[in-house]
Amino acid sequence: MALSITTGLYLLASQSLPSLTSQFHLNEDFPQGIYDPRLSDPQTKALENRRMRVLGELIGKGRIGWWDVFDLSDIGKERNKLARLLIRPSSKVLDVGCGRGFFSFACSRIASTVTCVDPMNGLGRKGWWEEFSETASLLSVENTRGIRADGSSLPLRGDSFDAVSSIHAIRNFRSRSEIQSFFKEAFRVLKPNGRAVIVESELNTNSCRAYKMFYSLRTQLKWELRLPKSDEIARWLVESGFRRVSSETHDWGLRYAPVYFPYDKSTLKGRKHEWELARELIISKGESHPPIRAFSATK
Ligand SMILES: C[S@@+](CC[C@H](N)C(=O)[O-])C[C@H]1O[C@@H](n2cnc3c(N)ncnc32)[C@H](O)[C@@H]1O
Repeated sequence: MALSITTGLYLLASQSLPSLTSQFHLNEDFPQGIYDPRLSDPQTKALENRRMRVLGELIGKGRIGWWDVFDLSDIGKERNKLARLLIRPSSKVLDVGCGRGFFSFACSRIASTVTCVDPMNGLGRKGWWEEFSETASLLSVENTRGIRADGSSLPLRGDSFDAVSSIHAIRNFRSRSEIQSFFKEAFRVLKPNGRAVIVESELNTNSCRAYKMFYSLRTQLKWELRLPKSDEIARWLVESGFRRVSSETHDWGLRYAPVYFPYDKSTLKGRKHEWELARELIISKGESHPPIRAFSATK
């Protein structure tokens, strides 16, 4: 099914199945969260299979659709909250670094049009752009179109959008200068008085030791960029020409970007001790998440 590949259905389901099984009085018990470090690899696989079977039955019998799974997941709750908070009704939105489209699709229920941009076509999302129109029409988001492109060089006309968003995405840019080029491009494509909206995790708190530990592993493994500090993001926005740059911190206690636990332990090389420590932290404290910082800037 195209939908399961392109829209992260499994990821969303692992967060929403506990609510769904209780809503439908199913005799199934699922843990909250995606990864349980106490399980062995075969147990994890068995849990994954059971999740897909129950989800398949609920969807197959037409009892739920993708939006139910999305709205009940922490990822969906966070993207819905952000869209309501940051996007004005009936605006024309450009969502850069759309990934699986979680924020873009949340926006599509508020905005008049959403254009999603991302250079990816791999990372577990193979075929995303080929199937984009089919996915958008399956989710009934006909006001949304997708373009495979890089945020640092947008193939779009200037002065075209009311809002440019980038949600949990700049961490995946290849370099800090690429983020700065993206901010300049965002300024160019926005209409006068249009708004840039940038959201990222705020890692300078004590509430997120396990997340930080994993984040540091991921950075070491070169999967992600070290996150710029809040004052750097604000400075780059000003340097790109934006005015009225402000930011707000939100802590909704949601697992908006679940930690990815590397199953292939051979990739950890000399960092196995850190991996064990992170595992213990997740067992004792759960998949805790840092708050997020939402930046807003006006052209
Ligand atoms: C964590 S995902 C984004 C999540 C998504 N916004 C959401 O709401 O779920 C980060 C994305 O940034 C994208 N990315 C990396 N470099 C980029 C660039 N130069 N321009 C645009 N997107 C980029 C990656 O391909 C990846 O899909």
